Amino acid sequence: SNPSILILPGDGIGPEVMTEVKKVISWFGAKRDIQFDVSEDLVGGAAYDAHGTPLHDDTMARAQEVDAVLLGAVGGPKYDELDFSVKPERGLLRLRKEMDLFSNLRPAQCFDALADFSSLKKDVVAGLDIMIVRELTSGIYFGEPRGIFEEGNERVGINTQRYTESEIDRVARSAFELAMRRGKKLCSMEKANVMESGILWREVVTEVAKDYPEVALSHMYADAGAMQLCRWPKQFDVIVTDNLFGDLLSDAAAMLTGSLGMLPSASLGAPMANGRPKALYEPVHGSAPDIAGQGKANPIACILSFAMALRYSFDLGSEADRVEAAVETALANGARTADLLGEEGATPISTSEMGDVIVA
Ligand code: NAI
Ligand code: MG
Repeated sequence: SNPSILILPGDGIGPEVMTEVKKVISWFGAKRDIQFDVSEDLVGGAAYDAHGTPLHDDTMARAQEVDAVLLGAVGGPKYDELDFSVKPERGLLRLRKEMDLFSNLRPAQCFDALADFSSLKKDVVAGLDIMIVRELTSGIYFGEPRGIFEEGNERVGINTQRYTESEIDRVARSAFELAMRRGKKLCSMEKANVMESGILWREVVTEVAKDYPEVALSHMYADAGAMQLCRWPKQFDVIVTDNLFGDLLSDAAAMLTGSLGMLPSASLGAPMANGRPKALYEPVHGSAPDIAGQGKANPIACILSFAMALRYSFDLGSEADRVEAAVETALANGARTADLLGEEGATPISTSEMGDVIVA
């Protein structure tokens, strides 16, 4: 049977950028005879409006069955006053949690045509292509005890960094697998100098490395890693790190490359019966209410998220390369949505024009 995709466009610019992804999916059907079973459903505010919940149980069940979920974005000012339990973001969090997506892949890739647009020196970013693997379901954002407690005559805020060996092992394995498909170079970042969880992290990653003798493993303290990431990011290929450090390092790395409108992501879980990992692909950006409905959104982040699905869920790496090359060509030919223009005063093209240029 054909590989299956569940499309969840969501809110704000989510549906706008997803329309362009559907053009790419149609192109694969028509021109390459690669067919997908595509279904579509609601998430976030759109699901709340229809069902009173940001993720219907039927949608959750469908997400567990398909080979890949492709999500646009959720949220918007219309939903700001809603109760926490039904906020649009809860829909996305429920997907991540129930699918147990522990490995978050955040590429930082600089397209040549945009090397001048980056805030960094051109030779630092030109040709950059690195991947940060962030542990997504454990660590200090989830560890117990947590809370704000009374202690003597003042309050104390507590969060706990906690990692089990198996949690470190599985995310390390996903990073080594990735390194095997890329430059066979992995850098693990923690703070083993001041944190016991970091010592354990380093030990477990070192142990997993024995199963991947072809991968050159290095270790770096995360603070030094942040510095090196800005100084000379091209020294890295794949970086693996915990939830907290990964949050910071991936946002910093993202900005090496230019616009939020360019950044895809993948969140992977354990392999399903067919051997494919549970997977959710989404652009890093949100629903961008300030530009929603105006045809201004850059669809590239969402299109590149689909390219990641081709590569990591469907083993269609060369087709993923084809999508990325189409994006590079479109940019090289001067196609720019407004977010890629800065102050120059050149004329931007619309969301749908960008999709058309990439498909062409
Ligand atoms: P945002 O990412 O939606 O927007 C930040 C800025 O970047 C805005 O100026 C926006 O116009 C611009 N931008 C974002 N994506 C763009 C694109 N594809 N093309 C051109 N410009 C783009 O973040 P913000 O404003 O903090 O949040 C807006 C809403 O989105 C909130 O409700 C927030 O909770 C939600 N959100 C959802 C996420 C998700 O669905 N994964 C992630 C981040 C925020
Ligand atoms: Mg963040």
